[in-house]
Amino acid sequence: MSDTPLIIAVIHGTSRELNRSIHAARFVMAELKKHGVGVKFVEPADYIIGRTEDNPEKDPRLLLWQKIAASADAFVIVTPEYNRGYPGELKMLLDALYDEYEKKPVGLIGVSNGGFGGASVVTNILPVLKELGMVIIRETIRISKIQDVFDEEGRLKDEKYIQRFDDFFDELLWFASLLKKRELTDPHETS
Ligand SMILES: Cc1cc2nc3c(=O)[nH]c(=O)nc-3n(C[C@H](O)[C@H](O)[C@H](O)COP(=O)(O)O)c2cc1C
Repeated sequence: MSDTPLIIAVIHGTSRELNRSIHAARFVMAELKKHGVGVKFVEPADYIIGRTEDNPEKDPRLLLWQKIAASADAFVIVTPEYNRGYPGELKMLLDALYDEYEKKPVGLIGVSNGGFGGASVVTNILPVLKELGMVIIRETIRISKIQDVFDEEGRLKDEKYIQRFDDFFDELLWFASLLKKRELTDPHETS
């Protein structure tokens, strides 16, 4: 059996200029690296702009996203809440693929500058991820008042979140290791 390190794709759901959720995404990447896993950073705008092809083979940007998603053992989605929902560009990125997500764990981090920590975006994206065949982990982080949680350099300043992130990473990596083993040992597994 292979002992290759886990690879986690961290999807940051917005390309809005001056967005604050990038602080959470960068924090997640830095923490995951401390856990010894490989990390790939993904923003929809780098793969989905203007007209897109249904077939990734015909679009070099989508092909790249397909390769990243295929190589990932798990996903973390860090997304701001926009009008109670998820950014359209995030949905477009997710909709571009299917098989590459199947039976892989996904953890959610909702971000808001208000008091509800992106609770609505988390709720609204769950059926999408379920439809894509992902394994949604139970630990979910809802970051309220992101301006008070990270400083301008992206350092975590609210200690309440330390334990929440620890629990989140524990569960995500537990599922990622377990499901990666399943993929390596199941002779019927194709994706
Ligand atoms: C178009 C738009 C819609 C938004 N809608 C919501 C919302 O429904 N609920 C909420 O808590 N915050 C909402 N916000 C504020 C975000 O929570 C805030 O911008 C926060 O910093 C996360 O988004 P960001 O990563 O784009 O900065 C909205 C922001 C924008 C730009």
